[in-house]
Amino acid sequence: MTKYVGILTAGGDSPGLNAAIRGLGKAALGSYGMQVIGFRDGFRGFMENRTLDLDNSTLSGILTLGGTVLGTSRDKPHRMPVGGKLLDMTDVMADNYHKHNLDVLVCMGGAGTQKNAHRLAQKGLNIITLPKTIDNDVVLTDVTVGFDTALSIATEAIDRLHSTAHSHHRIVVVELMGNKVGWLALAAGIAGGADVILIPEIPYDVESIAGAIRRRSHGGKRFSIVAVAEGALSKQDAEALQAAEPKVAKARGAAEAKAEAELEQLEAQHAGNTMRLAKQLEGLTGLESRVTILGYVQRGGIPSAADRLLATRLGTACADLIDKGQYGVMVAARKEDAKPVPLEDVAGKLRSVALDHAWVAAARRVGTCMGD
Ligand code: F6P
Repeated sequence: MTKYVGILTAGGDSPGLNAAIRGLGKAALGSYGMQVIGFRDGFRGFMENRTLDLDNSTLSGILTLGGTVLGTSRDKPHRMPVGGKLLDMTDVMADNYHKHNLDVLVCMGGAGTQKNAHRLAQKGLNIITLPKTIDNDVVLTDVTVGFDTALSIATEAIDRLHSTAHSHHRIVVVELMGNKVGWLALAAGIAGGADVILIPEIPYDVESIAGAIRRRSHGGKRFSIVAVAEGALSKQDAEALQAAEPKVAKARGAAEAKAEAELEQLEAQHAGNTMRLAKQLEGLTGLESRVTILGYVQRGGIPSAADRLLATRLGTACADLIDKGQYGVMVAARKEDAKPVPLEDVAGKLRSVALDHAWVAAARRVGTCMGD
């Protein structure tokens, strides 16, 4: 009996997404004779029924292609922007699922996508998810597709920023992606030899950072590299945000939308934090400071070999789960294998950096200031 598979990619684009689409598609077609259809631009294209047939020709030549051939969006099934309003469009999506006679919808995305896909599973759709994000913040999987590539890009950037720092005796503050968790900033900061690493999980004290930079300067190192995750906050800002977050967790319906909007407004106030931090450090240390924001460079271009391998492993494992009819799961990376984990154990959760994580300890042991 031929099975019909739908695929969508949602959330931020990520290196390796096309490799994952290819792995799933080729295994589904080649090993199981399944039919595969892609929905464009994440949940929005699923709602609007905009599709792309995925066959051996469309799946060819995409292993090393950055981004996603399907397109993506951050639109959420239950709060879809339609005619200037945010509407619950999950029923429309369920209709499209049945119109295409799907056996399963595979959603590739980060923490937010896991939660949105789970909402559709609760509507009775057969769902499998695949963990993809450069943030590496999805629980119950060793790693997410895209993290390794972003780590390499960010590390090379930090390596290169050392040149201007030591030539001009400057503080170079480099902002990395990661608005809620600090895996990328922590890993690239360690790999790139940053002198200060600031992550959202460890609210920072500017005086503590300035003291570390001054100690380096007095010891003859008249430059410092500060790797800061875009979501890193001072202790004061972190307290204000912590007061707002529980409201979102507890609220439901219209109250949830209002609380989410308030939280988004508060988070938006943190844009520009990195510039302010650089200026503060310049004033406190007397060293010139300069800022580089890596932004979307970290998500661009050809995926690393590790991400291509990971994406192919998870994509092909997903086809096996479909063949077995194992739905309502995320296909998780586990050492060299891939394991299905219940989607309900993943949805709504974020894998943050534990304060006692081995990588934090390693950074401190080589003298890195973590802002506290
Ligand atoms: O979720 C991955 C991510 O790259 C985050 O690190 C970053 O904060 C966010 O996406 C940027 O979102 P957008 O692509 O919508 O600007």
